[in-house]
Amino acid sequence: MIYITGDIHGDLDIHKLTSEIFREGSELTREDYVIICGDFGLRWDDSPEELHWLEWLDNKPWTTLWIDGNHENFYMLEEYDFEEWHGGKVQFITPNIIHLCRGEMFDIDGLKFYCFGGAESHDKEFRRVGISIWREEVPSPEEIEHGRQTLEEYGWKADIVITHSMPDHIQNEVFKPGTYASNILTQFLDEVDEKLKYKLWFSGHYHFSKTFDNRHFFIYNDIVKLTDEGFERVVPKKARTKYIDVLPEIFPEPVGEETADDTDGFAECAQEESSAEPEIPYTNEAE
Ligand SMILES: [Fe+2]
Repeated sequence: MIYITGDIHGDLDIHKLTSEIFREGSELTREDYVIICGDFGLRWDDSPEELHWLEWLDNKPWTTLWIDGNHENFYMLEEYDFEEWHGGKVQFITPNIIHLCRGEMFDIDGLKFYCFGGAESHDKEFRRVGISIWREEVPSPEEIEHGRQTLEEYGWKADIVITHSMPDHIQNEVFKPGTYASNILTQFLDEVDEKLKYKLWFSGHYHFSKTFDNRHFFIYNDIVKLTDEGFERVVPKKARTKYIDVLPEIFPEPVGEETADDTDGFAECAQEESSAEPEIPYTNEAE
């Protein structure tokens, strides 16, 4: 089985992976995968808390895969060796926690996953370079070119796209102008979206879970499971009020009603943003 979820920000949003919430998780094996769409954040400062949660995650029965977001300590990340895994380049953070590198294609359970991490922070003025923000958050031209070459090698075909940023045109359609910057990555993702033949695209970063159209999905605290037909949501199972009942200390108050567009099994997620991201106006109603 392959599951996909959004940002965990170190221990801040990792609770979605507890057995109380992600109930299926306890029955998985190392041949099952949970993919985190960036802002992994457990390679940040080597604090005792961080190491505790890293070990906690490593001890989960599944294998965790993650792409980088903008909230990663890229200086720490560059200390890890690169290895080949399922057709692409990775870094083993622990035996069971694997960083999927930018612009790589992976063959997992017969599906081709094209992965490209990175994003541009929009709260740079509150961050210090090398302490809480790293220039490497936005891919270099060389990384972009590598990602393009990978797609050339695969004839611009994949099954699933995993990114932290959405393409430029989606950002522009969903958010107020200037909320999220256009940059070398989002522009490249425009190109990917136009040229690549793929089925589903999942992106973290924006801190909500929402269907954009029948191929692009924002994901945050929801967890979805890939199926033969596409995917099904496994967290939260139903209305978010149930979610709150499970862990009241994590979700202290209701943040709204279940949306009416829940027919595709992918409604808005349960938790509003707790970090420094701005409020996000969602202007495009899900189909
Ligand atoms: Fe994030």
